[in-house]
Amino acid sequence: MLLEEMSYVEVEAYLEGKDIILVPIGSVEQHSPYGLFGTDFLTAEAVARETGKRMYILVAPTLPYGMSQHHMAFKGTVSLSPLTFINVIKEITISLLNHGFKRIVFINGHGGNINPVKTAFDQLKCENYSGIFEIISWYQLEEVKSLVEDIFGENEGHHATPSEVSITKYLRQQAFKTKPTAKKQVEKVDVYWPLNRYEMKKVFSDGRMESAPWLATKEYGKIILEEAVRALEKEIKRILNYKLLEE
Ligand code: NI
Repeated sequence: MLLEEMSYVEVEAYLEGKDIILVPIGSVEQHSPYGLFGTDFLTAEAVARETGKRMYILVAPTLPYGMSQHHMAFKGTVSLSPLTFINVIKEITISLLNHGFKRIVFINGHGGNINPVKTAFDQLKCENYSGIFEIISWYQLEEVKSLVEDIFGENEGHHATPSEVSITKYLRQQAFKTKPTAKKQVEKVDVYWPLNRYEMKKVFSDGRMESAPWLATKEYGKIILEEAVRALEKEIKRILNYKLLEE
């Protein structure tokens, strides 16, 4: 059920029966020496695509770039500014609305995206666009949080987490041949937020945020991904149940 593999004729047929589409979004940002640049979009994409497959729901191509300005002191990070990102989300949504999609659900893998995406939704409503716009961050789903708490406890942290790294180990095992495995200290810090790139590197010098990514395994990744898909299926059912308010 991937938009990138369909023709417009097939999209027309889909829209005769359904008005929902999932759009995976993430970031291209450093995930410490232990994790991949693609962590956030690879995880969101895997959760969205598997859910789409099970529920016969269309999944749009992944938007890999997100709002990652605080990671810019680390080589390789590519970030959209908040205002640009808001406009990208807005225009993706308007394009989909234009064709008759009414339930537009962004499946997210990156914390920095949440505020701008919600602001984009507020702006769309301000401009009187009708429809259901949601952002669901897979790692914030209650079932996922409780599973991850059971597996990693306090070592999960907030960035380059063992849960997201586990999923990418499951998806892209080869890429980890060149990554370190040695344990380090997990330091808890009390810091204000948001941070600019220099503040970020000063506080979180190797790019982790209170996490222990060396605990990640592909086996955990498989279990966490499955739990995320099951939890997302429930959320999608909730969204499908809403009655649209026509003008
Ligand atoms: Ni991440």
